[in-house]
Amino acid sequence: MNPSDPWVALARHAPLAILTDLDGTLIPFAPRPEEARPGPAVLEVLASLASLPGTSVAIVSGRRRDQLDRMFTELPAVSLVAEHGAWRRGDGAWQAAQTPRATPPEGIAQVLEKLTAGVKRAFVERKSWSVCLNYREVSKREKAALVVAAQAAAGEWVRAHPEYEVLEAAEALEVRASAMKKSNALAWLRERAGVGARVLVLGDDVTDEDMFRAAGPGDESVIVGAAGGRSTAARWRLAGPNEAGAFLNWLVGARADRPTPTPAALPLLVSYRPRGKRLDVPLRLLVVSNRLPELRSPVSPEEVRKRSVGGLVSALEPVLSKRGGMWLGWSGQTSPADSPPVGGTAENGSPGLAWVELPPDAYELYYNGFCNRSLWPLFHTLPGRARFADAEWEAYRRVNAMYGAAAAELVSDASPVWAHDYHLYLLGAELRRLGHKGPIGHFLHVPFPSVDVFSMIPWAEQLLDGMLEFDLLGFHTRRFAENFLQAVGVLSPAAVGDDVVEHRGRRVRVGVFPIGIVTGKFQEAADTETAAEISALLQATAPAKLVLGVDRLDYTKGIPERLEAFGHFLAQHPEWKGRVSLVQVSVPSRADIPEYAEQRQRIENLVGRINGEHGEAHWVPVRYLYRSYPHTHLAQLYRAADVAMVTPLRDGMNLVAKEFVAAQDPARPGVLLLSRFAGAAEEMKDALLTNPWHTDGMARDLLRALEMPEAERLARHAKLAAAVARTTAASWAEDFLAALEACRSR
Ligand code: UDP
Ligand code: G6P
Repeated sequence: MNPSDPWVALARHAPLAILTDLDGTLIPFAPRPEEARPGPAVLEVLASLASLPGTSVAIVSGRRRDQLDRMFTELPAVSLVAEHGAWRRGDGAWQAAQTPRATPPEGIAQVLEKLTAGVKRAFVERKSWSVCLNYREVSKREKAALVVAAQAAAGEWVRAHPEYEVLEAAEALEVRASAMKKSNALAWLRERAGVGARVLVLGDDVTDEDMFRAAGPGDESVIVGAAGGRSTAARWRLAGPNEAGAFLNWLVGARADRPTPTPAALPLLVSYRPRGKRLDVPLRLLVVSNRLPELRSPVSPEEVRKRSVGGLVSALEPVLSKRGGMWLGWSGQTSPADSPPVGGTAENGSPGLAWVELPPDAYELYYNGFCNRSLWPLFHTLPGRARFADAEWEAYRRVNAMYGAAAAELVSDASPVWAHDYHLYLLGAELRRLGHKGPIGHFLHVPFPSVDVFSMIPWAEQLLDGMLEFDLLGFHTRRFAENFLQAVGVLSPAAVGDDVVEHRGRRVRVGVFPIGIVTGKFQEAADTETAAEISALLQATAPAKLVLGVDRLDYTKGIPERLEAFGHFLAQHPEWKGRVSLVQVSVPSRADIPEYAEQRQRIENLVGRINGEHGEAHWVPVRYLYRSYPHTHLAQLYRAADVAMVTPLRDGMNLVAKEFVAAQDPARPGVLLLSRFAGAAEEMKDALLTNPWHTDGMARDLLRALEMPEAERLARHAKLAAAVARTTAASWAEDFLAALEACRSR
């Protein structure tokens, strides 16, 4: 193993103080605390650690002293900290950490006991300076009411007893004296360990966050399991108690200087805390994109509706969750000044996320401006919508430099870096300028236009020059790659070969990597019980046939054109009135940009017009939903649809087309009506291909889709399903990364 690895350095350090939480960290939760006990493997690894010279180990738990005593009788060398730091047992007997000034929380204990009377499997545990309501096993039906009532009672009690605080832990609500924090134990154990001690903290719950925060610059903190809907101050993550056990076993071996193989479960970096110097972390991969997955789960129905979506995040998220690595991007927030990158973890854990905030002018000029009002329309060959401004190009360069600096701080010189999409075409050049030596690749998620269109960018040559600093440039389709090579041939002095460009003595590889999806996920979600919301929607449209549109609300998606064709179809084929409904899901996107606001207006006017013209009291032709759905809900909608109209005016790939196919019941598949201008059409030739620019033609194609005989539907679907299974999200990433790795060896 690399001796510069932070874990080897920590394992070799003496003295070392290890503080670990118990429940959820070393052992899984059980319905009742007394049912969860450390097994022999956990006891053995703790005993081994504590027996090593220069090593102090403490279990830091919220449990009562008597419970810890019973569990750890055999381990006198392990220190115990009970009730979140209120009691400590070092070498001898238990001692109170400090004389609490708080009165015991008798009053609230009684209130909580009253609330739980009659609620099955809820129980209240009294401790010296805290009281804990545990509702892990309470039925869903009773839980919400119990939690709301308990929160209200606890809040009220704490207002009258300011020396107490309310903590919402994993499936438990705890009222405890504020002075009783697990972090107290950190200073205590550090002192016991001796001068120069470094500290390692492991925990899983909110009550462990105090310890994570109290960890100093030389210490390491590890969160075990997913952080469950909150951000964490821990720097590293392990997947669960099993992985924590494997890691501690590795630590025993490494500390005893035995040759120990690297465990599969070395903690992954999850939280980037700038320390003013490059982190010496041997990252396997750094991914950089403008958009990151949402940093926290939506907390209200309103947030669920507005959740931002996009093919880039949809494809990368599952791949990176599996592979690990780190993902750097924009937090979605603006910050008042040019602040340094800030970071933390997203609640859904791996991969580690690091993020930058954009100054407000950069948000306007770089994101809304050059990215989304210049490059976006132009790359989609809608030059009439593109406009260019010097200040926006400057902001694009500045923000790419900012991403470059943040990326360089995160990785060692040799790590591979994978940049994504039109936002970051200057990142490669920036990283090279900063001395990065590892391979740097770029994948474009949108189309690359023909040279005539590309050359309308006033800085086309500079942009190409920046692109040629990457080692590998990836595109969805052969056509896009060829457009790029042609642009290089026309606009740059570089020499163009077969999928390779020679420029300033370097070779830049060009490759075609069609992106895909995790097919099983959509198939399984479609198979599960239909969500109430989707059921209600399906009931409202039944018995009419269902035509479905699902897109971000973007003018490239051709939503008004689709609506026009649907209206035209109804006018031409009145016999279909009452027998077909179009459900159009339009996810809010880039709403600060005037063209998007106008597009929304246009769509809503059209929906109103079609429903007014054709609707009946018992039948609504178009149901329009301006909102976002989770993938599970979408899969059920896809499965229920008779026809999916995936009709963008132009699109890089279009994952909705692939998701629709994956979610079909193979015995009763729906029909995919697909724009020939979607990248997906290159692989999905068995879809019914249509031209979204031609209203009459699209209306005719819709009729054909609705009337398609079963045998034809089955045959087309079988071929489409095979195509969708051929290139998946995982195979796309593997292919790209293998090509990137090959650039290193060349
Ligand atoms: N999507 C979603 N919820 C919605 C609508 C769409 O999660 O309500 C997802 C959809 O499943 C797909 C992505 O958004 O994975 C859209 O990707 P696509 O490639 O079709 O288009 P993009 O938005 O990237 O242009
Ligand atoms: C497209 C782009 C992505 C982008 C997504 C959503 O898929 O290729 O880079 O993330 O749209 O757009 P947004 O501007 O919200 O990130």
